[in-house]
Amino acid sequence: MTIPEIQRMKGEKKITALTCYDFQMAKILDKAGVDIVLVGDSLGMVVLGYENTLPVTMEEMLHHLKAVKRGIKNALLVGDMPFMSYKVDIKDSVYNAGRMTKEGGASAVKLEGGIEIIPTIKAMLDADIPVMGHIGLRPQAIHKMGGYKVQRDEGLIEEAKALEEAGIFSLVLECIPGSLAKKITESLKIPTIGIGSGIYCDGQILVLNDIIGLTERSPKFVRRYLNMKDEISNAIERFIEDVSKGDFPKKEESYE
Ligand code: KIV
Repeated sequence: MTIPEIQRMKGEKKITALTCYDFQMAKILDKAGVDIVLVGDSLGMVVLGYENTLPVTMEEMLHHLKAVKRGIKNALLVGDMPFMSYKVDIKDSVYNAGRMTKEGGASAVKLEGGIEIIPTIKAMLDADIPVMGHIGLRPQAIHKMGGYKVQRDEGLIEEAKALEEAGIFSLVLECIPGSLAKKITESLKIPTIGIGSGIYCDGQILVLNDIIGLTERSPKFVRRYLNMKDEISNAIERFIEDVSKGDFPKKEESYE
């Protein structure tokens, strides 16, 4: 998958995207045929146990990005820029985005934000680093936004157009009402990828651990396809039981 291929899917075929944080899952996602794999900063909450995404560092992102990269053959790999890695200084932002591509192997980076990050986006593009935008609910702005709330501001349409004009290749719309996401999607030439933003987006992204039922609770917009948490608990309980009663290992599970 390349960026032009993703862009050509708009209006033709829905784009599928999932987050991923490790090598083995990356291999499974890639083989299943997902179009975009995002190493999201949701890493912080889903894998590292942080309360929100704010503490995630560049080093943590790179560590997981490299692991995922080793499992990907076909999907477009996108690295999420963590909080404070791109809004302080433009030079540092480009340098950090460069690390995502040079060290982490990402084909593109994702940035949360609107008009205020346009100069940063342009500087990244000047350095040949493709950028995916992210508007609506922005988890890195959780304190400013006052919580994880649906974003209904019609101003998002103009914001999306300005980001497209700046050169982003696609745009994540998070927790926007379906009717507003539709207006945004119809007003852009680039594809929109929705999360909790209804059916009219050009593609859909979800957090992998939510859809496979590893996370404790998940938002209303998630569809769970598996209950991995219970499956894993069950397997571990059976292992404990087998070892405790001397039923594991059997002769065929041992060396003579
Ligand atoms: O960090 C993340 O997982 C994201 C998503 C769009 C799901 O930004």
